[in-house]
Amino acid sequence: MAKAKREAKEKLNLVDIVIELVDARIPESSRNPLIDEIVGNKPRIMVLNKADLADPAKTQAWINYYQSQSIHALAIDAQHGKGLKQLEKQCQLLMSDYFAKQAAKGVKPRAIRLMILGIPNVGKSTLINRFVGKNQAITGNKPGVTKAQRWLKVGRNFELLDTPGILWPKFDDPLVGKKLALTGAIKDQLVHMDDLALYLLELVLGNNPEVLKQRYRLTEQECQLPLVELLLVITKRLGFKEDYDQASTKLVIDYRQHQLGSLTLDQVPLEASSVGEN
Ligand code: G4P
Repeated sequence: MAKAKREAKEKLNLVDIVIELVDARIPESSRNPLIDEIVGNKPRIMVLNKADLADPAKTQAWINYYQSQSIHALAIDAQHGKGLKQLEKQCQLLMSDYFAKQAAKGVKPRAIRLMILGIPNVGKSTLINRFVGKNQAITGNKPGVTKAQRWLKVGRNFELLDTPGILWPKFDDPLVGKKLALTGAIKDQLVHMDDLALYLLELVLGNNPEVLKQRYRLTEQECQLPLVELLLVITKRLGFKEDYDQASTKLVIDYRQHQLGSLTLDQVPLEASSVGEN
């Protein structure tokens, strides 16, 4: 952890803006607990990735929430390249004062230097690849940059560190652990699949029971069963006989593959969700 923190801080010194990448389904649970301390006063944009998998209204409420906390926030879908233009605009906006001051001194604007920071699996590599595209050009090492750090050109206005800052997730809270596991941010071996499936069933039943009924051909009565019994019914329906571990894994994979609807797992703090409704 100390090494990850030190490496992230080293990279921070090289850039103008940090893109803090989180999973839009778990914006809080996929943040590193020490992120504020690590990033310090460096300009930062919080980017809720995988917005295609999250509940759009909740994503907007989360953005409102972060903005109410004076954190710049926006949503993207790095896999399909959606939202990247807004992200670029936001970066330019953040640097406009600085460049205006430089211009007043007769200094020409230069490329804005960016780095991506986040816990594993939030889409850092996907975003780097999308940002840079196929025709990426490596601009070579800069003075003071270790050999391992290279800059990738993003259009004419940006340079991106080719390796992201990787932070560790926080999962001493079992609920956060379940959310991280459901979204694939921590290894399945660290959790009990049946626990995860029961938690998921409860969430989907509360959010969108129809999708569950249709996917696993469940009746209304079956959906009223206690969760453990419902899991047994689904196990049979999937043809796994008594193997509810296999059925649990299938349920979790279905969630990850967006077969159980757009489900955001982190709840927006109450006072913020009302902001989005006004
Ligand atoms: P990391 O560098 O932060 O560890 O994450 P990485 O880019 O490797 O992405 C982790 C997984 O999340 C990948 O799926 C990737 O395709 C997927 N992903 C990244 N961004 C998005 C997004 O905006 N929307 C969706 N739906 N998925 C996204 P994978 O299953 O591990 O690999 P694969 O699908 O590329 O085979």
